[in-house]
Amino acid sequence: MTTTIIAFVSQKGGVGKSTMSRALAREAVNNGLKAKIADLDTQQGTSVDWHRTRLNQGIQPEVSAEAFATANQALKLANQFDLLIIDAPARTSQGTLDIARVADLVVQPTGASVDDLRPAIREFHALVKAGISKAKLTFALNRIGTPAEEAEARNYIAEAGYIALDGCLLERPAYRKAQNTGYAVTETSYVGLNVKADALIQAMIDKVGDNG
Ligand SMILES: Nc1ncnc2c1ncn2[C@@H]1O[C@H](COP(=O)(O)OP(=O)(O)OP(=O)(O)O)[C@@H](O)[C@H]1O
Ligand SMILES: [Mg+2]
Repeated sequence: MTTTIIAFVSQKGGVGKSTMSRALAREAVNNGLKAKIADLDTQQGTSVDWHRTRLNQGIQPEVSAEAFATANQALKLANQFDLLIIDAPARTSQGTLDIARVADLVVQPTGASVDDLRPAIREFHALVKAGISKAKLTFALNRIGTPAEEAEARNYIAEAGYIALDGCLLERPAYRKAQNTGYAVTETSYVGLNVKADALIQAMIDKVGDNG
C-alpha cells in the first residue's frame, strides 16, 4: 500500500494542528480511506484524548489515533494505512525537520496576525534551509475573522514565497464545542461552518494529490 503522509507542524502552540488533524482524519475515513492520526505530542495527547471521547460517544465514522514518541516510530506502521496524519507538538525544531523529511505535505496552521505569521514563516525558512522542498510546505489559515483579514494574511504569505491552502477556519466557539464532545470541525451543528472546514480539508487532499 502506498501511504500518503500529511504532517501538521508549528512553531507556536495552539494554532490548530490537532484540530486540523482530526478533521482530516474524519474526512479521509468518510471517503473510504484507511487513515490514522499519529499523535506525537505525548505530553498532551490531545488527539488521543479526543479519539477516546469520540469512541465513548459512539460517533461514526470511527477514526483512529495513537500516540507515538517519534515520527519514525509512527512510520513503522505507515504501510497499513492510506493516509498517516502526523499531529506534531509545537516548538521542536529538530523533531519538525525529521517529520518534514518523511511527510508528503507539511501543513502549518497559522493565525492572521503578523505576530503569528512572522515566526511561522521563519519556521518554513528554516526547513527550506535544511533541505526540505518548498513544494511540500503549505500554510492553513485559522481563526480568521473577516475576508479582508484572510486576504491580507494570504498576501503576507505569498510575499514570503509560500502558499496558503484555499479555504480557512473562521474563529468560532462552535468549533471548540464540537471538539469538546468528540466531533471534528467538519461535524458541528452548523452546516455553513462544516462546509467551510471541509473545503480547507479538501484543499489539503488536492494539494498532496498535485504534488504526487
Ligand atoms: N477556528 C477555531 N475557532 C475556535 N476555536 C479554535 C479554532 N481552531 C482551534 N480552536 C481551539 O483552540 C485550541 C487549540 O487548538 P489545537 O489544539 O488544534 O491547537 P494545536 O496547534 O494542536 O495546539 P498545541 O500546540 O498545544 O498542540 C483548542 O481548544 C481548539 O478547539
Ligand atoms: Mg495539538
